[in-house]
Amino acid sequence: MRRLFPVTDLTAAGTPREWSLDDLADAYAYPGTAGPWLRANMVSTLDGAAQHDGRSQPISCESDMRIFGTLRGLADVVIAGAETVRLEGYRPARARDAFAARRAAAGQGPAPAVAVVSGSLDLDFSLPLFVSPLVPTLVLTGAGAPPDRIAAAGKAGADVVIAGEGSRVDPARAVRELADRGFGRLLTEGGPRLLGQFVAAGVLDELCLTVAPLLTAGDAQRIAGGPAVTVPKRFALASLLEEDGFLFTRYRRS
Ligand SMILES: NC(=O)c1ccc[n+]([C@@H]2O[C@H](COP(=O)([O-])OP(=O)(O)OC[C@H]3O[C@@H](n4cnc5c(N)ncnc54)[C@H](OP(=O)(O)O)[C@@H]3O)[C@@H](O)[C@H]2O)c1
Repeated sequence: MRRLFPVTDLTAAGTPREWSLDDLADAYAYPGTAGPWLRANMVSTLDGAAQHDGRSQPISCESDMRIFGTLRGLADVVIAGAETVRLEGYRPARARDAFAARRAAAGQGPAPAVAVVSGSLDLDFSLPLFVSPLVPTLVLTGAGAPPDRIAAAGKAGADVVIAGEGSRVDPARAVRELADRGFGRLLTEGGPRLLGQFVAAGVLDELCLTVAPLLTAGDAQRIAGGPAVTVPKRFALASLLEEDGFLFTRYRRS
């Protein structure tokens, strides 16, 4: 057993050292494996709530948002479930100066693409996410999705990717389809219903989980929903940062 906190990683003045965005980007670099790497970034309260009043912002904090931005800055594509896109009002990912040189060196465009997973395609295709992103937004859906909605997505400028039969997206196929299009550094920001499917399909490589020092009670979703897996998936701790009582954990598939 090891004590991880209180820490010894302090400055000479006895204060926690500052982590620049560059430090964070180094710490959270993708592993450089040959195949795709699917990372999830989620936040949870101490009692397991993944949202409060329908949003994750009330359980997040400034340093969580810095890591959120860093993970986006490293990713080729950000995958989100349609409900998260609808409720959180997703906008196109920004090109940020802090990551420009790193992205150029890695052969990446200025910002990650956003990939929305939806069966119904009940999305507002007039939003900036679809009509004015830096990189075309992808819409992952099933072969049986409503043809008029597929057409509307395409007309708005989205790149529609069929990744399943019926109206459902097969999570493992979604990863393959994205990898085939050159998106190997994958980041999913949930929500819980989508993350649960990546977990169940055995395609989640890494979980960046922020544990917020908050209790909310109630019946909010956990970070991963849907049917339970038969055998719990084992992950190994890769790193642990702390600020203001928030724990920034990073676990990799064992
Ligand atoms: N704590 C966190 O880190 C965090 C992160 C993200 C979101 N959240 C919170 O989570 C809530 C939303 O999450 P959620 O779990 O309800 O929804 P979600 O996973 O974001 O989205 C669910 C929707 O995604 C589409 N979808 C998911 N799997 C699909 C599949 N296999 N095939 C086709 N479409 C699929 C469906 O869209 P259609 O209905 O369009 O078919 C489904 O209704 C919000 O309150 C948000 O604030 C928290």
